[in-house]
Amino acid sequence: MATHIKSNIHWVGQRDWEVENFHGMEFKLTKGTSYNSYLIREEKNVLIDTVDHRFSLQFVQNLEMEIDLNTIDYIVINHAEEDHSGALPALMAKIPNTPIYCTENAIDSITGQHHHPEWNFNIVKTGDTLDIGNGKKLVFVETPMLHWPDSMMTYLTDDAVLFSNDAFGQHYCDEHLFNDEVDQNELKEQCLRYYANILTPFSALVTAKIKEVLSFNLPVDMIATAHGVIWRDDPTQIIHQYLQWADNYQEDRITIFYDSMSNNTRMMADAIAQGIHDIDPGVAVKVFNVSRQDKNEILSNVFRSKGILVGSPSMNNVMMPQIAAMLEEITGLRFKAKKAGAFGSYGWNGGAVDRINTRLMDAGFETVVSLKTKWRPDGKAVNECREHGRDIAKKWALHELNNIQSITSKPVTQCAQTTASVDPSTATVTSKTVPATAATKDVQIDDARDMLCTVCNWVYEPAVGEPNQDIEPGTPWNEVPDFFLCPECGLGKDVFVAIEQSKAS
Ligand code: FEO
Repeated sequence: MATHIKSNIHWVGQRDWEVENFHGMEFKLTKGTSYNSYLIREEKNVLIDTVDHRFSLQFVQNLEMEIDLNTIDYIVINHAEEDHSGALPALMAKIPNTPIYCTENAIDSITGQHHHPEWNFNIVKTGDTLDIGNGKKLVFVETPMLHWPDSMMTYLTDDAVLFSNDAFGQHYCDEHLFNDEVDQNELKEQCLRYYANILTPFSALVTAKIKEVLSFNLPVDMIATAHGVIWRDDPTQIIHQYLQWADNYQEDRITIFYDSMSNNTRMMADAIAQGIHDIDPGVAVKVFNVSRQDKNEILSNVFRSKGILVGSPSMNNVMMPQIAAMLEEITGLRFKAKKAGAFGSYGWNGGAVDRINTRLMDAGFETVVSLKTKWRPDGKAVNECREHGRDIAKKWALHELNNIQSITSKPVTQCAQTTASVDPSTATVTSKTVPATAATKDVQIDDARDMLCTVCNWVYEPAVGEPNQDIEPGTPWNEVPDFFLCPECGLGKDVFVAIEQSKAS
């Protein structure tokens, strides 16, 4: 149903709560989307954009309830991708002679998709205007490659509304239409996700085009996007945000993503992340398994990061396919001014790490030395991974680091003892995750009882220690260093609980 926007403008679009993927499977939608279409009724009636082709009949039916279709004087198509021009065939079947205003490139894409060269196309260029009566005009601004060659924006004078199409939009569905009405955290997250995953390659154009539009000195009272909210509260905030994102955006953040066959590369990722944190507790470190986690969330984090670390075991001497796919996407997104490194575990040949490093350089990243570990990381290798993380933290620091000397000058085991938090909660797991017959929640960590891994049931026996991680026989749990990882499942000390009736007691 139509919703009043401003003056004689109504929203006549379509909400899509259910859609999960966009551009095939390339963009995962976590909050649905909307296809925004607008009806302007002045002396002339104008329709701005249509909706996705899956809603064609619904769109035309709703529009017919709002206006006699034969009284629509002009149709403006800002961008011809099927989520905006998809309902044109159904609409044009009813009003076949209605003039369509679009860029020259859009005629190619509209005709290419809908196969109606006979439609009444009218080409517009930047600065062209269309008088719609009552003293108002539409002003057209071509925005090629934001994000298709056919893209443009349309500005309505007097009301000062910019119909921006994809630009400044979000894949976000809410019953509210305006930016000041929705959850601000959700909105910010979806704006960034949209920019990072769709517009990053065109950042230089974003800056140039925004500056061009601003040079017209047109007042902007509202930005009516083609997806998500309409910006009416401080509408230019999203323009300023785009200028910031387009300027080689980065935060003090490092993203680590990996794939793993036997948890070995995962162990490396964990230790590297800990090493970074040792040196620079202020940096945000985000770790993802590409096979298990949301690809677009990972790419959003890459966008926000000053550097990335990419890990893969070697399989047939190449990287895991999900890592290769992610690197292909990252290459296409053409991130600028970011650093990167490769790491991975291997058994026979470590070809994956070398290939990752080459791909990262090809994608324009400034790379650091790679790190390989043969087979499952033992204690020495875990220490090397952690030291690698520390080294990266120092190399990539955006601010002065305190106490580096005191951390790095200590032997690792001492360091681990020093940095381990003597907090009973780290040795205590909620009863939910502990077998009731085997464990207790009330554990003193300085005793010599056996410790049970609550994930895989491997048992740490102080009398045996863990020679593969240089933990001597006779080492009580509270002296087991913080970098210790369960040799079975690769998880850290915090998932262990004491066994009440241990051999040691
Ligand atoms: Fe480029 Fe919303 O389509």
